[in-house]
Amino acid sequence: MTDKDLSLLRESNETAFYVFDGKVLKERVEYIRSSLPANTALCYAVKANPFISKEIIDDVERFEICSPGEAEICFELGIPSDKMVISGIYKTPSFIEGLAADSSFNGIFTAESLVQYRQLCQLSEKYKRQLRVLPRLTNDSQFGMNDTDIIDIIDNREKYPDLDIVGIQYFSGTQKTSLKKFKRELEHLDKFLSILKEEHGFEAKELEYGTGFPVSYFEGDDLDEAELFKGFSELLTDMTNKPDIILELGRSIAASCGRYYTHVVDIKTNKRQNYALIDGGMHHIVYFGQHMAMKQPFFSVVGKEITDSEKLWTICGSLCSMNDIVVKQVPLPDIAIGDLVCFENAGAYCMTEGISLLLSRDLPAVYIIDKENVLYKVRSTFETKALNTPRYERMY
Ligand SMILES: Cc1ncc(COP(=O)(O)O)c(C=O)c1O
Repeated sequence: MTDKDLSLLRESNETAFYVFDGKVLKERVEYIRSSLPANTALCYAVKANPFISKEIIDDVERFEICSPGEAEICFELGIPSDKMVISGIYKTPSFIEGLAADSSFNGIFTAESLVQYRQLCQLSEKYKRQLRVLPRLTNDSQFGMNDTDIIDIIDNREKYPDLDIVGIQYFSGTQKTSLKKFKRELEHLDKFLSILKEEHGFEAKELEYGTGFPVSYFEGDDLDEAELFKGFSELLTDMTNKPDIILELGRSIAASCGRYYTHVVDIKTNKRQNYALIDGGMHHIVYFGQHMAMKQPFFSVVGKEITDSEKLWTICGSLCSMNDIVVKQVPLPDIAIGDLVCFENAGAYCMTEGISLLLSRDLPAVYIIDKENVLYKVRSTFETKALNTPRYERMY
């Protein structure tokens, strides 16, 4: 972002705001792609940050959508339906029926349970159209189905010729750093695909795998991403089965393109502890693995150099919660009320996982700088007070 853009945003925002950089995002997608075996497809998990989806319409093969709301956002952004994977542990039945009934909808549905699978069977019969399905294999949690349930689906697939079972979906968690864990998971998936092929005559065309690739959020993180991607790529290449691989990624795609800016609004020293209060806080900036600022995220004070100093500061947000500590005991420059603090890697989940309604504070405005370096406002500061105001409607 240019200094001119930042000055403009500073002048236009009395309170905190996010900026997502489309060029950084695209370069990130390119980097991930170039670090993986050729032909590995990428699916962006929209939950990580719906605001950046449009910027990568042409850069990823798919978008994973987990709710009617996410679907509406994607339709509005012009994401073609054949790039959509309708996923999620609860699929609102009327929403799924609406998509199945719409002959122009050409996305894939995941099936997370036998109930969801049966609904898709009924809908394909009712609307006499082929639906593409990815049964999700469980990782021994509430998500997905047992291998035996999937085998049952496969064994009975001829009863539902209009359901095209394209392969398997799998996801087991986020921020995964261990190659050993990837090895275990890929071996497990490979073995399951072999069983389906050799014992049940079913060759999966696709494996859609949410790898939960990690992001380095804190000072001292020793993530060697290049090494992790290299090791992961070797594991993929070593698989006996060769389905099309589609990696479902949220955090790893989105985090690095985002910055969160918040102003210092008060300064005090209580019992020899220096506090800088900001107009944002933990309702806007959520880093996986962070609690009570136990770790130090990457941040700066705009226009001021942070040097080593004896004087340590704790930066706290503006919620009435003792937990609302964003950075603890760090040296800061000579800060003043009105200074702008910038937090890095704020592109994934910060906007969607913050506890937005506590205290009825406003949500930050959102800006995008597109790949041509043009700055857009994509959401104004959003008042949440309407959501917390009771409006009495007589029911009878
Ligand atoms: C099914 C599924 N796929 C993909 C993702 C994205 O995970 P991540 O942001 O760790 O890449 C999630 C996150 O919850 C998920 O539930």
